[in-house]
Amino acid sequence: MKEINILMVCLGNICRSPLAEGILAHKCNHLNVNVDSAGTAAYHIGEAPDPRSQHIASINGININDQRARQLMKSDLDSFDYIYAMDSANYNNIIKLASNELQKQKVKLILNELEPGFNKAVPDPYYGGDQGFENVYNMLSQACDLITKKLEKELNG
Ligand code: 4NP
Repeated sequence: MKEINILMVCLGNICRSPLAEGILAHKCNHLNVNVDSAGTAAYHIGEAPDPRSQHIASINGININDQRARQLMKSDLDSFDYIYAMDSANYNNIIKLASNELQKQKVKLILNELEPGFNKAVPDPYYGGDQGFENVYNMLSQACDLITKKLEKELNG
């Protein structure tokens, strides 16, 4: 049976990409889809998601508490079918690890799912207040609705 592997990437892998992982895994739980996340930086390796990400996920019925941060590695560009970057700095850092065109084509800015070609960023909420996390949650939820529809088509025709 066909399976699709998706990687969500941000800088620290403690705020945005753990939420993106949790949201997409929740929306895709009826599909043969695996979701993981990673950070381009090494600052937070081994840490649980930021408590503010855990909270906004939890009030939306999603538990991300058991995730642990890891750093993006070159082999991820082989292992995953689609790699979603939260902002253009993440995008550029992922592309730097790619060794061929096929790998480069796997990498997309997640908000281009909602507004193709606009190259909008999911704003980094780390230094902001809780409202930043709600905003991030809402953006990611909308993008993941569209990603889920695409995956349904790809897997079920
Ligand atoms: P994230 O947020 O990339 O969404 O996980 C950040 C987390 C930590 C830092 C920056 C952004 N930091 O500088 O430690």
